[in-house]
Amino acid sequence: MEILFATNNTHKLSEVQAVLGDGFRLLTPRDCGITEEIPETQPTIEGNALQKARYLYERTGRDCFADDTGLEVEALGGAPGVHSARYATDGHDFAANNRLLLKNLAGQENRRARFRTVIALIIRGEEHLFEGIVEGRIVDAERGTEGFGYDPLFIPEDGDKTFAEMNAEEKNAVSHRGRAVRRLADYLHSIEK
Ligand code: IMP
Repeated sequence: MEILFATNNTHKLSEVQAVLGDGFRLLTPRDCGITEEIPETQPTIEGNALQKARYLYERTGRDCFADDTGLEVEALGGAPGVHSARYATDGHDFAANNRLLLKNLAGQENRRARFRTVIALIIRGEEHLFEGIVEGRIVDAERGTEGFGYDPLFIPEDGDKTFAEMNAEEKNAVSHRGRAVRRLADYLHSIEK
């Protein structure tokens, strides 16, 4: 099955492809001639995921899905949350975001945080939402070089490695996105029959 995924982030693409398996061929917006940045201007993670999926569906008419993720830090009242990509600057500056997060948590004993992903799928003209959450904590300094975004600062519950110290398979097994994509995959398999 061919399905359009609203990302040009190669890390995300390979994470999602690994979970979906060979039965699905992921197309990117670029593959469909969409080169502009897809708007994500909604106040919630769900809203952004739906906005991105609808944007692609309206322009291509293809089965498609979009994900939106937020890092929700308890001691910061759930920030950066829906603003995770643009926490420190207007762009996707991962290093600056990580520096700001550490600064805002300096001296803070409560390091509890969670990643939350929502996937919006539009298939056969119908909309569906899938959620994945991983609880964990924020460390004091960056560790590891794998992955992207806040990965060097986040240790999932019961673990001792940050996401950036894990390979893709280890991260996918417990991550927010891995969990949401497995729900998406289960649904796609169920309607394929
Ligand atoms: P997006 O909505 O998936 O683009 O995610 C928003 C922001 O959350 C990204 O720019 C990253 O900073 C962060 N983020 C999303 N997924 C992950 C992840 O798996 N690990 C670390 N950071 C992530």
